[in-house]
Amino acid sequence: MNTLEVISKRRSIRQYKPGEISQQKIEILLKAAMSAPTARNCQEWEFVVVRDKNMFKKMMEIHPYARMLEHADCAIIVCGNTQREHAPGYWLADCGAATQNILLAATELGIGSVWLGVYPNQERMDGLSRLLKLPEYVKPLNIISLGLPAEHPAEVDRFDPAKVHYELW
Ligand SMILES: Cc1cc2nc3c(=O)[nH]c(=O)nc-3n(C[C@H](O)[C@H](O)[C@H](O)COP(=O)(O)O)c2cc1C
Repeated sequence: MNTLEVISKRRSIRQYKPGEISQQKIEILLKAAMSAPTARNCQEWEFVVVRDKNMFKKMMEIHPYARMLEHADCAIIVCGNTQREHAPGYWLADCGAATQNILLAATELGIGSVWLGVYPNQERMDGLSRLLKLPEYVKPLNIISLGLPAEHPAEVDRFDPAKVHYELW
């Protein structure tokens, strides 16, 4: 697929069939993540890769909209290291760009993925930080749930010319 095809085909996949995503493919996803742009090239991202089903259970207790983890094969928690960011708050944009790269690379590799929002929900952030033993200066942005897709939602065209403003609002 070319880049534009991958962008169009990416959808949130919440149903998975049994099967493993190889470590090699996980590393391709992480490499894609770390190819993203960051402010001042700070690369303040950190990634926690989780495969333990027991941990998935605990994540489902922390996150109310993460039921798909029950059948997921792997989860990547994208975090921002606030000690390394260019200025307060930049970690959000930088880790968001890394997340999108993971979702797109997963689409290319035939892996189902969905972004599960953690930041700015304080309860989810606290719960996940405790579970994963994150240092205080490392903030979890999301959980990316990954598995072999058992659903194939169609592409959607969300282009809305009314949202585009040329030159001035
Ligand atoms: C910041 C953010 C938080 C999200 N949180 C959740 C979530 O908690 N649970 C979930 O099932 N999907 C979550 N999603 C996925 C969205 O529901 C999904 O992207 C949206 O409905 C559009 O569908 P699509 O991804 O298939 O294009 C989240 C997406 C983003 C960007």
